[in-house]
This record gives sequence, structure tokens and C-alpha cells, in this order.
Amino acid sequence: MATREQPVVALRDVEKAYGTVQALRGVSFEIHAGEVIGMVGANGAGKSTLNKVISGQTAPTGGELLVDGEPVNFAHPREALAAGIALVPQELSLIEDRSVAENLFLGRMPKRLGFVLDGELQAQSRAALARVGLDDIDPTVPASELTPVEQRLVTIAEAISKQPRVLILDEPSAALPAETAARLEPIIRSLAADGTAVIYVSHRLAEIQRLAHRVFAMRDGRHAGDLAREEITIDAMVQLVGGSALREEPRPVVKTRADAPVVVRSRGLGGTLVHDADLQLHRGEIIGIGGLQGSGRSELLRLIGGIQGRSAGDVDVLGGGALETPHAAVRRGVGYVPEGRKAMTFPTMSVAANSTIALITDISRMRTFVDVGRERELAGGIAERVRMVGDLDAPITTLSGGNQQKACISRWLLKGVKLLLLDEPTVGIDVHARAGIHQLLRELAAEGTTIVVACSEPEELVLLCHRVFVMVEGGVAAELEAPFNVEQVVAASYAR
Ligand SMILES: Nc1ncnc2c1ncn2[C@@H]1O[C@H](COP(=O)(O)OP(=O)(O)OP(=O)(O)O)[C@@H](O)[C@H]1O
Ligand SMILES: [Mg+2]
Repeated sequence: MATREQPVVALRDVEKAYGTVQALRGVSFEIHAGEVIGMVGANGAGKSTLNKVISGQTAPTGGELLVDGEPVNFAHPREALAAGIALVPQELSLIEDRSVAENLFLGRMPKRLGFVLDGELQAQSRAALARVGLDDIDPTVPASELTPVEQRLVTIAEAISKQPRVLILDEPSAALPAETAARLEPIIRSLAADGTAVIYVSHRLAEIQRLAHRVFAMRDGRHAGDLAREEITIDAMVQLVGGSALREEPRPVVKTRADAPVVVRSRGLGGTLVHDADLQLHRGEIIGIGGLQGSGRSELLRLIGGIQGRSAGDVDVLGGGALETPHAAVRRGVGYVPEGRKAMTFPTMSVAANSTIALITDISRMRTFVDVGRERELAGGIAERVRMVGDLDAPITTLSGGNQQKACISRWLLKGVKLLLLDEPTVGIDVHARAGIHQLLRELAAEGTTIVVACSEPEELVLLCHRVFVMVEGGVAAELEAPFNVEQVVAASYAR
């Protein structure tokens, strides 16, 4: 580790207020060349805000930012970039209708006499993509043709190709399945070995434990403490971010299903990738769908929910046959939360409205006027249970990433559906809140809701599910029943 005396970046007593919300309260921070800092903290603790200050995305309302010991005032992210600081933001930021190459080299295309050198651009793009394992992507296709995972990797490739002195990754793994995120780790290590300072934000504490030279913990806008490399354990991090010990989650126990009614039954169900899925899901079960990225997890969930049309076989949901439209799903009491919250937030609406939108016909009088008092009351109750931090009356875009995700899943936790289909429900959600959401799901299941969770994290499947179907290349390769362990899920995911 090429640590020099002088920190590359330092903050002194930095404050940031958004109106009346005090997002940062007197935070001091420093990072040295070649250092990997793991940044942890509950949703809304101020991690993204801190990194936005460092990268010139937002101006602090107090305190000092120093680069190489010199005070700076970034008026624009461009100025931070010129100082060698690059941020990969928490939210995806690609321009969808531009090519991958243009996205990678926006504002810095290789040119001669004012003309873009196309061959050069393609070659540089391929090199940048190869760095993150996207060797097979054609840089001339529009960014919209990539999967969300590929898009996320492109934003990381873009930042790396700028050869920054400080690389900030704000929850890169939130949008990536666990095994893809793991592919980033050697890249980060080699950048650090070459002297790049890296700030790595994540709620997946195991990643931080593997990568970080030091942990910087935030709580409620403040710096809550540090852990030196040898002190970094999951327990120590959990303590620092939450202030209270995390309660051990109860392990799922399988009850005999013989007398529980079948809620979903499929035979030979197939879609684009998924084939021959024979399932029987019972009332009150929490079912997991595991497997690697691209194994068909999400597609199987969509086929059950009627979000995607089937190409083969049959499926019956709640005795009414297949669901043909999302509308029919809602009418039959089926809730569906897709992967990635962008598609499901209503950005101009309040947090309270976003949390209760599934109930809209129940809380509106004559289906015209929403009972705002009732909406607020319901949203307040659920917000507490999922540990949502933020102003319920403010637009949802003012919430931190993890808190937006909580609002999105809350609407179905309130609705009391018979079948709940969740795709990566706890992505970006901190450990304490995650345990709270698991508990809510257990209670719903105990009351008779059948819950199906597509999830890339074996740990979460083990904690939550009575039964797991592990997908391999579109087929159900294994069915595991609690108690099962992480190793079994992983082994089944790689089976052929
Ligand atoms: N544009 C904004 N307007 C108003 N409040 C904001 C805005 N952006 C962030 N906040 C508030 O600032 C606080 C800190 O948010 P921040 O996004 O930094 O949290 P975070 O630690 O990154 O959380 P997460 O883990 O959920 O991403 C939160 O209370 C959030 O609601
Ligand atoms: Mg954040």
C-alpha cells in the first residue's frame, strides 16, 4: 500500500443541510493514496451525501474540503474530476439512447481536427469494457440494450477509464448480483495496489470485510467511528452503524404442507430462458428462487405473475388459471415488486403516497379524493416497521436510495395480498432494516400470504425461505428445504 503522509482528500467539519434536513453534521474524513475505505451506515446516514460533497456533485453548507492539503471549492463535478476524483453514483446515470462507447467517453472523445476518431473510440471502449469483464459487449449498441447489471458495470468502467486518483463507488453492489459484485473485488485491489484511493460504500458487510483497509462508519449524519483492518468484523460494523446489537434472526422452520392449499401450480412452464418448471407453492410459504445472474430467477417470477407471457406449459394462480395481465394480477390479490426501484417510484409524489399507492382505491373516497390523513397514518405505521428515515410529505426523490426501496416494498406489505412476488427486495437496504423487513414478511406468511422471493444472495435465502428453487440455465436444478445452508445453495447454483 503506497500510503503517503498527506491525504489525497480530506474533509474538515463538513456540514450539509437540505432545507431543514441536516444530512451531514461536522464530518471529518481523510483518505490516502492506495487506501480502500469501506463506508458503512444505515439508510439515510449520509454516505451518499458525503461522497457527493467530495466529488463536487453538491456543495457543503459548512466546513472544508482539501485536496493534497489545499482547500478547494468545487463548483461542478468537472472540477472534482480535473482534481482526479471520480464518482460512480448510487443511481444509474447512463444516457439510454447513446451508444455504450459515447457513454464511456462522453465529453472526452478521441478527436482529430474536430472529428471523432471512430476506430480509436471503439478500441478504447473495448479496452475499458474488458477491464470489468464485459469483453462481449459491442460498444456501438445503445446503452438501452444492455441489462441493468451490464449498465452498472459500464458506469464503473467509465470511472476507471478516467484513471482517477480517488475512485468512489457508491453501492456498486446494490445493483449487482452477489457473484458479479465479487468480480469487482480483484479490480479494486489492483487499482489500490497502483495507488488509487478507493471509497467503497456497501450494505453487504462481507464485501467490506474482504476489501477494506479501514472502515469509516456513519450514523445520523455524523462520523460514528473507524475500524482498522484487523478490527473489521461483521459484528463490529453492525454495532457501529446501528448502535444496538442486531437480533439474531429466527431460522425458518418448515411446517407440514399437506393440508395447506396450493396457491400456485405449474407444469412444464416455460418462457424465453425458463423451461419445464413444475412448481407447487402452498399458502403461507416463503419460497426462494436462487441461482446465478442470467439463470432465469426473475423470469420465473414474471411468468408466475403474468408479467411475461409464457411460451410453454401451464400455470394456475389462486385457482383462476394463468394471470394474463398485470391488471388481472392485482385483481386476484397478487402483488409484484420488480427489480430496481426506478420503474416503480412516482418521483413527483410524496413518500406517503408512494408507500400506500397499492391501497389507492381503499383510501380514496368515491375513488376521486385521496384521504391524505389516512394515507399518512398508514405510511407512518409501515415506515416505522421498515425503519424508513425521511419526511413522509416530501417528494420520494429526497429519500436516500435504501429508503426509496423501503417505500416501494411497503405498499405491498400494507395491502395484504394473497401472493406476493418480490424481485431482489432488500437490495440497498441496511442490515437492521433488512431484519425488520424479513420479520414483516414472516408475519405476512404466518397470516397466510404466499411469498416468492427471487434473490441473488444465498445468505438471504437461508434466513428467509422455507423452500428454495435453485435455477441453472433456465431450469430448476435443485429444490432445497429448510434447514439448508449457503454452501448448498451455491453448490446447486453451479451444478449442471
Ligand atoms: N435532495 C435531497 N433533498 C432533501 N433531503 C435529502 C436529499 N438528498 C438526501 N437527503 C436526505 O439526507 C439524508 C442523508 O441521505 P443520504 O442519501 O446521504 O444517505 P445514505 O447514507 O447514502 O443512505 P442509503 O444507504 O439509503 O443510500 C437523508 O435523510 C435523506 O433523506
Ligand atoms: Mg446512499
